[in-house]
Amino acid sequence: MNATTPQHLIQPAAYEITAHPEHPRLLKLTLNTEALNAFLADVRDIDVQNLEYVPFMRFHLARRLKAHMGADFGETLVNIIKDRKHGGFVLGLEGVSQDSDDYVKFGTAIGHILGPANHDSMSNKYYARFLVKHTDSSDSYLRQAYRLFTMHTDGTFVTEATDWLLMMKFDEQNAVGGESRFLHLDDWSELQRFVQDPLGARPLLYKAPGSKNVNERVERPVFFHGEFGLSISFIDQFVQPANDAEAEYLQNLSESMENSPGTRTVSLPAGDLVVLNNYFYVHGRAPFERNEQLHRELMRQRGTFAQ
Ligand SMILES: [Fe+2]
Repeated sequence: MNATTPQHLIQPAAYEITAHPEHPRLLKLTLNTEALNAFLADVRDIDVQNLEYVPFMRFHLARRLKAHMGADFGETLVNIIKDRKHGGFVLGLEGVSQDSDDYVKFGTAIGHILGPANHDSMSNKYYARFLVKHTDSSDSYLRQAYRLFTMHTDGTFVTEATDWLLMMKFDEQNAVGGESRFLHLDDWSELQRFVQDPLGARPLLYKAPGSKNVNERVERPVFFHGEFGLSISFIDQFVQPANDAEAEYLQNLSESMENSPGTRTVSLPAGDLVVLNNYFYVHGRAPFERNEQLHRELMRQRGTFAQ
């Protein structure tokens, strides 16, 4: 809003920001339920297929959400994700809907306030919905419930940039455990040990398993400097060490992140989402307790910041 905006068009903010109760850096936004309902009613006639086929409609949703949330909502989200002190937030639909199309629309609006989503090769869409269940025959830890899903960044094995990632919980039943785990690089107690090792700057080869539908061979170092300062790119499953020294370095690095006191467990109720800066956060998932009725559905979106 600038000085010439008529007074009646300036809306009060329809959200509050507080510290997240489980993570010292994340912020929690609580959105006004009337504004959320008004947003969902506003975009009711836009179907999800339209969003999948027409990229500019995803930005239309972002624009509508900003209009309903008022005062600097979009700018606030971008500033949080780019702010090294925070770099992440949690927010949700506050129970106003349990409809999965509404979840896709809301998540899309939040993501596209930051910028365009990348194509997700696993789903062949700009987002992916996936289940974690009792049984799984997949080829990575993503859908395996009873394994620790080790700390990692996203987008390691593709050439395009992955600036931010969004994860939204759609549904969860009979789930004990399985919490998200987040580590901000500056909270990693042994960070300097791995940054100062010459292997931290050496380009390493990444290759994805078949389910990812990505055949690229990407080389990137674990640590690099970028727009947000010291940054990391790492995932244990897809990095291909060329020798024993690289393998040992990567194994020690992974174990150190898992065991760092800075790695915090965060619970995410259905209808809530988390967004992280992918350059200075690593994320993972705790194992679930065994339950044959375990059912959890998540949506992910990953993208770049708007230019
Ligand atoms: Fe991930």
